[in-house]
Amino acid sequence: MKTVHTVSELRSELQSQREAGARIALVPTMGNLHAGHLALVEEARQKADFVVTSIFVNPLQFGPNEDLDSYPRTLADDQQKLDSRGNDLVFAPSVREVYPHGMEYHTHITVPAITELHCGASRPGHFTGVATVVTLLFNMTHPDVAIFGEKDFQQLAVIRKLTQDLHLPVEIQSAPTYRESDGLAMSSRNNYLSASDRERAVRLYQMLCWARQVILEGRRDYSTISDEATRTLDNEGFHPDYLNIVNSETLEPAALKDPHITILAAAWLGQTRLIDNVSLILDDN
Ligand code: PAF
Repeated sequence: MKTVHTVSELRSELQSQREAGARIALVPTMGNLHAGHLALVEEARQKADFVVTSIFVNPLQFGPNEDLDSYPRTLADDQQKLDSRGNDLVFAPSVREVYPHGMEYHTHITVPAITELHCGASRPGHFTGVATVVTLLFNMTHPDVAIFGEKDFQQLAVIRKLTQDLHLPVEIQSAPTYRESDGLAMSSRNNYLSASDRERAVRLYQMLCWARQVILEGRRDYSTISDEATRTLDNEGFHPDYLNIVNSETLEPAALKDPHITILAAAWLGQTRLIDNVSLILDDN
């Protein structure tokens, strides 16, 4: 498995694949790969003949007081894992390769409305950073299909919207959240958790499952459910950022008639910000 670091190397590797008629998949990542990422690569293998995984810790999507500097960079380890899963090519550009004239004056892609909600409200500029780098990666790679994890549910919605709005000729596919054996959603940031916080962390997913269960059992007082779950998390040592019950497509607060519901949550545990979500379908609506 080859690793390339420049856009021109990437393009020349892909040109021969395209000439041979290969369907190309892109799996965008920030590296420090875990089993959840590798499941995306496996999904990509099913959907395409040639799989490119990008590894790029994108400074543009980190806020000024966030973990850009401490974000784990583990390229050699990531390469080994990808090689063992049949990934074909790694694209690991430098910041200068992606933003040759710096980030401040670089063209930004801003997706309106949906990026102001939930994580967007607490991480201003985050989704502009994500939308910009994903658009750049699409333009560099021209994949037929790109795969993203459902754990970042709002990110997925933002990427679907920008792809539609910009008429980008790429199919967006998603893969289910990969969980540890106790249910905690896999994330590179889980490594930041202390041992006791790691044990407690699963309560976030359990509260989401509780909220889903009471809705399935007939409760429709969405804002009370959300307040109750938030209070429980607070009492258990989390600092909840939000726990919102939303329409799965618009990500606006769920209305009583909405059949497709997603419960989105973000909460701090110590210095670690965890996010997770669960979805449900209400047949009676
Ligand atoms: O989900 C991630 O790892 C990142 O936000 C992404 C999509 C690779 C963009 O940097």
